[in-house]
Amino acid sequence: MKICVIGLGYIGLPTAAMFAKNTNNFILGIDINKNVVDTINKGKIHIVEPGLEEIVKEVILNNKLKASMEIEEADVFIICVPTPFDNEQLKPITDYIKSAVSEIAKVIKKNDLVILESTSPIGTTEKISKWIQELRPDLVCPHTNENSDVYIAHCPERVIPGYVLKEIINNDRIIGGLTNKSTDKTIELYKQLVKGECIPTNAKTAEMSKLVENASRDVQIAFANELSMICDDFGINIWELISLANKHPRVNILNPGCGVGGHCIAVDPWFIVNAAPLKSKLIKTARDINNYKTDYVIEQIIQQANKLNTKQITCLGLAFKPDIDDLRESPAVKIVEKLFSLGYELKAVEPNIEKLPEKLQDKCQLIKIDELDDTFKVILVAHKEFRLIKNKLKSNCLSYCSI
Ligand SMILES: NC(=O)c1ccc[n+]([C@@H]2O[C@H](COP(=O)([O-])OP(=O)(O)OC[C@H]3O[C@@H](n4cnc5c(N)ncnc54)[C@H](O)[C@@H]3O)[C@@H](O)[C@H]2O)c1
Repeated sequence: MKICVIGLGYIGLPTAAMFAKNTNNFILGIDINKNVVDTINKGKIHIVEPGLEEIVKEVILNNKLKASMEIEEADVFIICVPTPFDNEQLKPITDYIKSAVSEIAKVIKKNDLVILESTSPIGTTEKISKWIQELRPDLVCPHTNENSDVYIAHCPERVIPGYVLKEIINNDRIIGGLTNKSTDKTIELYKQLVKGECIPTNAKTAEMSKLVENASRDVQIAFANELSMICDDFGINIWELISLANKHPRVNILNPGCGVGGHCIAVDPWFIVNAAPLKSKLIKTARDINNYKTDYVIEQIIQQANKLNTKQITCLGLAFKPDIDDLRESPAVKIVEKLFSLGYELKAVEPNIEKLPEKLQDKCQLIKIDELDDTFKVILVAHKEFRLIKNKLKSNCLSYCSI
């Protein structure tokens, strides 16, 4: 079979490479970014993911994978394009999916299968069927008829960056087709690659399952963040409190932090809030609490800096969670930006990056862990490197994570 993977980023490239390496299919990867396509065709990669470059090199050399900017006929189309949230208009952006679908519509033929892997608002899989129908009235699409000419399903991705190659194989997959045949054909395909269970459902439930997985984490972290602020008022140590409460056999409170970041947990709950604003009060409140926690941390840092009569602050950690290099939507980055705008002089230690992203370059100085001096420090992310120097971080230091 020929499988066309559309969008070759953090999700699409490992998916394309793993199908190429572990199945007997030929994979055509499509991206609108020429640099991405050229890099992959040289057997190299443009993202950070351990072990991926070796596999891409191998499958490019073996002619099992080719990247291109031009769509071609194929038996299966897997959509892995971005689905961001527009924070101003407060709605999900599905334009990238629509544009990928209009390319697919140019070449799709009877018996082909279209799979949406991108995290999507409820009803997107059905919309894909309607968009294809509009562009290709010659085909019977699955939103109209169980006996359709083409098949469409949603199979959300739940891998964690850093472990993608393992998780693509081992994670269970939720597979929701617009018709039973769409589900069955998609399960048949993923079973060629996936060792985890492939669990059938309908398209809407599959869409919602991905969104609630992340909303569930967000709500639980919000509970911990809210507790941490209440405990401050009573002079109770939040870490001791959580460890005591978690001794209860049915309680598992998560760790608070300086907010919630990344492109999934901080984003996906909004898809639910946008779709059901009156009924998603808890999910919306959790988002608000987690955002507010970042402002609260900034306030506390300023108070402590005033007490110490200093304008110099060193932030420990910039990534959105421990032991990764990903700074997307990171609350620690927001904290640095805000403190800079208030006139503080900032240094940052982020052991997982070599260079600051452009937007931070004029705002703070990146230093190495062994360059730490007795400046006022704030631990924002629980990187393993900070745990190793825990004893040195006791004085002149605020901590917003458990190291
Ligand atoms: N990264 C993760 O950890 C993760 C985990 C689970 C789910 N997801 C979801 O997977 C989807 C993809 O995320 P990602 O992190 O891989 O994004 P990404 O930004 O890393 O990659 C997307 C790629 O798609 C390309 N693209 C955009 N429009 C295109 C089009 N019309 N045709 C062809 N290529 C196009 C871009 O150039 C880019 O290379 C999103 O819906 C995301 O929410 C991501």
